[in-house]
Amino acid sequence: MRIAVTSDIHTDVTPTNRRIVEHLVNAAEEIQPDVLVICGDISASLVQFSQNLLAFQKLNSQCHKLFVAGNHDIWVDKKSIITSEQKYLTITEICSECDFHHLGGKPIIIDDVGFCGTIGWYDYSFRQERYKIPIERYESKWYGNSIWNDVNYAKWSCSDIKLAHRFETELQTQIDSIKNQVSQIIVATHHLPFQESVIYKGSLPWDFFNAFMGSKGLGEIYLNEPLVTFALFGHTHFKRPPQKVGGVTAISSPVGYLFKMSKRKLPRYAKECLTVFEI
Ligand SMILES: [Fe+2]
Ligand SMILES: [Fe+2]
Repeated sequence: MRIAVTSDIHTDVTPTNRRIVEHLVNAAEEIQPDVLVICGDISASLVQFSQNLLAFQKLNSQCHKLFVAGNHDIWVDKKSIITSEQKYLTITEICSECDFHHLGGKPIIIDDVGFCGTIGWYDYSFRQERYKIPIERYESKWYGNSIWNDVNYAKWSCSDIKLAHRFETELQTQIDSIKNQVSQIIVATHHLPFQESVIYKGSLPWDFFNAFMGSKGLGEIYLNEPLVTFALFGHTHFKRPPQKVGGVTAISSPVGYLFKMSKRKLPRYAKECLTVFEI
């Protein structure tokens, strides 16, 4: 089984991000994956979101297309009456209309491989204690003049800590529901499951914002389940080679923000943003 993974296409951030989609589709067509996984952050606009999913219909119809929502996908307008919970459910519906499967809705078994997933969230467990920054400061999502924009656009009904734990529980439930039917499990999330994948710079405010990368509890679920072989995730826009954490191979393959990318470089860059592996 050939699996291709990417994330963080962010088509509502720059015109270049919008343009890269066709190059990602072309790159995926060349690879001919059996499974394509997009680990979130396509666009906060549902119109753009659907258009981008539909662009991947060009792929061979045998290819299973999987998605997990990212924090930008569940962003809602401040004045909107829609909550992020509701948008998460809408994303599941839009995915199925666009021939994608939203792993945040339910797991899927392909051949004898289980795919589970969740957006995941953060509970500040990736913060560095040495800065002695109180939890309330993380809850405010402000550091100096810098802000983590979920505070403005992610509208959940509970605290970050409760939310992270809710998504961890949902993931555990998914794993438990399929583990007797599969030979291995691949988990896709948007937020990071392992602190080992977080890039710390030893300075603020950068390290402050690392508290919003993910939660340790996610990764503990993987490490406690011997069937979990791969952790696919997005959210960090840093590219790094696959990493081994315990028995799990951690892979992220983000596009990121393309403020400085020339059009000429896009086809090649799109190929770099699709990591392919075989199982
Ligand atoms: Fe992102
Ligand atoms: Fe993100």
